Amino acid sequence: MPPSKRIRPIGQPTRGKTALNRLRQVDVYIALTRSAYLTGISPLVVDVGYGAQAWTAIEMWERWLSFNPNLRLLGLEIDPERVAAAQPYSQPNVLDFRLGGFNLADVLGGEKATIIRAYNVLRQYDEEAVTDALYKMAQGLTIGGILIEGTSTPSGNIVAFDVYEKMTNGALTHRELVFGTNFRQLVTPLQFQAILPKRLIHHMQDEGPAAFFEAWQHSLRLAKSMGQTGQRQQWQLAAHFLHQRFGYPIDVRRRILRRGYMGIQASLLP
Ligand SMILES: C[S@@+](CC[C@H](N)C(=O)[O-])C[C@H]1O[C@@H](n2cnc3c(N)ncnc32)[C@H](O)[C@@H]1O
Repeated sequence: MPPSKRIRPIGQPTRGKTALNRLRQVDVYIALTRSAYLTGISPLVVDVGYGAQAWTAIEMWERWLSFNPNLRLLGLEIDPERVAAAQPYSQPNVLDFRLGGFNLADVLGGEKATIIRAYNVLRQYDEEAVTDALYKMAQGLTIGGILIEGTSTPSGNIVAFDVYEKMTNGALTHRELVFGTNFRQLVTPLQFQAILPKRLIHHMQDEGPAAFFEAWQHSLRLAKSMGQTGQRQQWQLAAHFLHQRFGYPIDVRRRILRRGYMGIQASLLP
C-alpha cells in the first residue's frame, strides 16, 4: 500500500478509551462465520478508530493470522497523537497505523479492504452522522467485503454489532445484527439495549426493537421455567424460542449459540 497524500480525515475527535481483549468476541465471531474473507493472497483489513492504544487492532490481526499468514492490517485514527503512539508496533508491509477518518478510501489510494471494523466509534457521534459515515467507509471496501459497526461495554463482556456487505452495485446491505456475551456476567436482554449500534440505540421505543426485546425477555423466562439453570443453556434455548415461536430469523446453529452469539439475519428497523 503506497503512502497516502495528506488528506483531511473525515470525522471528529472522540474519547479513545479501549481495553485489552475488549473486541475478542467480535474477532472470534468473524472467524467462526466468515473465515473465507480472510483467505486470498494478502487481504487487507482496516480498523477505523483503534483508540488511545493499538491493542484491539493488533489483537484482531493476530487472531486472524492463523487463517492467513499474509493478512495485512491498517489501523486508522483521527487523532495524530494516537497514530504516533502506535508506530512502534508497525511491521513493514503487514501492520500499519495511519492518520485517517471515515474517508479511508483516500488513505488506501485505490486499494480496497476486505473487512472494515469501526468499533465504539460511531457511538460518540450524532445519529444523523451514521449513514454518511457508513457509506463513506464503504467506499474503501471491496465488492462483497464486510463492514462491522458496533458497540461494547468497557470490558467487552457483551457486544452488539451490525454486519454490512458491499453489493456488486456498490450499495451497502445490512446482513446481520449480532449480540454476544462471554457469560462472565449475568446477562439479560435489557443490558444489550445500552450498547446497540448507533442506528438503533435511540429507537428502543419504536415498534420493531420494542417487540423484539419483549419477545427475547419472554423467551428467556420460558427457558428458565423449563429448568435450564446455566446461563449458556438459557441463552441457547431462548434463541430457539425467539426463532420458533416468534419467527425472528435467528442463526440457530449450535456452534454459534453455545459460544454466546445470537445473530439476527435481518434489520430490526427498515
Ligand atoms: C472509544 S475509542 C474505540 C477504540 C477501540 N476501537 C475499541 O473499541 O476499544 C474511539 C476512537 O475512535 C477514534 N475516531 C473517532 N472518529 C474517527 C474517525 N472518523 N476516523 C478514525 N478514527 C476516529 C477516536 O479518536 C478514538 O480514539
